[in-house]
Amino acid sequence: MTETIPLPDTPVLETARLILRPLEMRDAPAIQRIFPQWEVVKHLHHGIPWPYPDDGALTNTVMSLETRARGEKFYWVITLKGGDDEARGRIDLWPFDGQLQDMRGFWLDPLIQGRGLMTEAAEAVTRYAFEVLEWPCLYLTNSVENHASGRIKAKQGATRLRTEPKDFVSGPGERQVWILTREVWLARQVEGV
Ligand SMILES: CC(C)(COP(=O)(O)OP(=O)(O)OC[C@H]1O[C@@H](n2cnc3c(N)ncnc32)[C@H](O)[C@@H]1OP(=O)(O)O)[C@@H](O)C(=O)NCCC(=O)NCCS
Repeated sequence: MTETIPLPDTPVLETARLILRPLEMRDAPAIQRIFPQWEVVKHLHHGIPWPYPDDGALTNTVMSLETRARGEKFYWVITLKGGDDEARGRIDLWPFDGQLQDMRGFWLDPLIQGRGLMTEAAEAVTRYAFEVLEWPCLYLTNSVENHASGRIKAKQGATRLRTEPKDFVSGPGERQVWILTREVWLARQVEGV
């Protein structure tokens, strides 16, 4: 399964409670305020610098927009519908590279976690991947200790493939690798699961 690069422009996606809009430079200050919290970063990739530098969000936003300009990944900021348009989290999506079985990443402001918002964002991005891009499947991963992230995948209909060693910001651990197929996800929409 290889995907076409460059990817199309990042579309605005709307859910019942959220607007997902393309990441912009103006989002860096809000990301710098929210992202550097232990509960946000502890289960994320070990390459994220910790302690998080004062220009961490700026550096990451510049790099992400360069990657976006090459058409390699989608980056959405998560904003509350009817709110102030401020970034409250992020969700990223990228094509299968033939090796790393990992195609989506997300984090949300702890102040608004536990309300089903990331499930909503993940469903919107998955719908785009399967219905518009027509990707056949998404490979998804999370730390075995990240029960909320694993639960979102299970709710979407993903199947666990394996568990393997992985380094996180919190140190060495294990990650679960999941597959969510277009077929299964579409069938769940029809069934109204
Ligand atoms: C993972 C994360 C995005 C979830 O966001 P969220 O908006 O709170 O998620 P939702 O409310 O949509 O869904 C979370 C689900 O996990 C469940 N859950 C939460 N904590 C849990 C726990 N400790 N054990 C089991 N289930 C848990 C919730 O009950 C919910 O399931 P339900 O709808 O069946 O009740 C958020 O916790 C986060 O930003 N974490 C830090 C960054 C991160 O770890 N990103 C993922 C990297 S793989």
